[in-house]
Amino acid sequence: MYMDMVKAKMSLPGRVKIFDTTLRDGEQTPGVAITPKEKLRIAKRLDVLGVDTIEVGFPAASPGEQQAAREIKELGLNAQICGLARVLQEDLDAAINSEVDYIHTFIGTSPLHREYKLKMGKEDILQKAVEAVEYIKDHGIVAEFSAEDATRTEFDYLLEIYRAVESAGSDYINVPDTVGVMVPSSMNYLIGKLKKELAVPISVHCHDDFGLAVANSLAAVEAGAEQVHATINGIGERAGNTSLEEVVMALIINYDVKLNINTKLLVDTSQMVSRITGVRIPPNKAIVGDNAFAHEAGIHVHGVLAKAETYEPLMPEIVGHTRRIVLGKHTGARALWSKLDDYGIEMNEDQFCQVFDQVKKLGDKGKMVTDADLKALAETVLGRAQKETVKLEGLSVLTGDNVLPTATIKLNIDGEVKTAAKTGVGPVDAAINAIQSLVSDTADIELKEYNIEAITGGTNALAEVFVIMADKEGNQATGRSTVEDVVMASVEAVLDAINKILMVKLI
Ligand code: KIV
Ligand code: ZN
Repeated sequence: MYMDMVKAKMSLPGRVKIFDTTLRDGEQTPGVAITPKEKLRIAKRLDVLGVDTIEVGFPAASPGEQQAAREIKELGLNAQICGLARVLQEDLDAAINSEVDYIHTFIGTSPLHREYKLKMGKEDILQKAVEAVEYIKDHGIVAEFSAEDATRTEFDYLLEIYRAVESAGSDYINVPDTVGVMVPSSMNYLIGKLKKELAVPISVHCHDDFGLAVANSLAAVEAGAEQVHATINGIGERAGNTSLEEVVMALIINYDVKLNINTKLLVDTSQMVSRITGVRIPPNKAIVGDNAFAHEAGIHVHGVLAKAETYEPLMPEIVGHTRRIVLGKHTGARALWSKLDDYGIEMNEDQFCQVFDQVKKLGDKGKMVTDADLKALAETVLGRAQKETVKLEGLSVLTGDNVLPTATIKLNIDGEVKTAAKTGVGPVDAAINAIQSLVSDTADIELKEYNIEAITGGTNALAEVFVIMADKEGNQATGRSTVEDVVMASVEAVLDAINKILMVKLI
């Protein structure tokens, strides 16, 4: 509504290109290293997602990096394959030798970079930039030039260097907000000023040091920037880069801008990158987080059940997500009836009140109630709860210095007694591995989350273990146990969750 009033004042381009840098800046996330094989898998996925360009790495960094770039290029993807290079001959040659379609070359231009990092004057930097672009163009390759730390560079000098690389044939100029110091109004002002002076398409590369990378990228597009650099899940140096899924959805939904992205693959791609990089997706992350389409509060659930748009700005299916009604202390009666109805569980008012009470009690204790938890609760109130399918009959662990931690577990699974011994990184890991190996014939259930807390002080403290287990069909259950022995608490919590999942499967 309000967007229509301001849109006329914007210089929105007809189409915005997405330059994905998950495999380059994203890989610069502290603690993340992506193997060449994993790079290939991610590149294929990004291509299906529909990004315009994939920056696959920094070929001069290592022979492996160069090889990965070459192999990705050989896949013959639709996206243009880009390699990063400083304005140095050896970097440019490494990128050219990897046979990429596109080279993103850069040099620092701000006073800080000139004085402390490069120890070079303005003229030398400009000359190197021009030579690099000419060299790339002489090889018939697409060139993008970045003035690193552009947003802390004097405007006159920035414009001079951009004009020079434009004349040298650069296909794009990129404006990196290298340490994320811009705010939307300053970014809009800078890009607007550059647009007036340059004909070459403008790209922006925003960092998220103040949590403004997406907002700054959008402000740049409002001023006419034609290309946005982004990474899946916003991973990257320090606080990361513009989050691809967020900027893409904002451009499509809020600005009605055309993009080439198959948005239905966003959640899947985000989860794939999270699994490979080991960088967890925060539950409250926009678009792809677990809670992005989850509703708990009674008033919201009531609204969403009546008409989803009341509390959702876009349908979850558009991004490959699903709506979730979460039970907890804010749950209203309507939401609970609706959940029970979804599972075909019928009960009278009195039974319903008992379940409702239990959900509220758990919520008040700060506990979450998963669907499997609810089903188990309802079956218990209805007096239909199965006895525990899996019972512990024995546990012993071996651990110590110079000993491979080993656990031997004896379980009674539906009347059949089975024993397994497994090793692990510690006794808890070994015990959980042993349980999983024993129940794997009955159900493929894996540990999703493990939390432990000492709830009293001293070496005899009570250990409270909370786990979330899930099976391949998407059933999730929580399990808890509080005893003095950490291994026992873990085993009991895991069995608690497994029994709830098995109960659901039998309903
Ligand atoms: O953040 C940055 O300035 C970069 C450059 C390589 C463009 O990543
Ligand atoms: Zn960067």
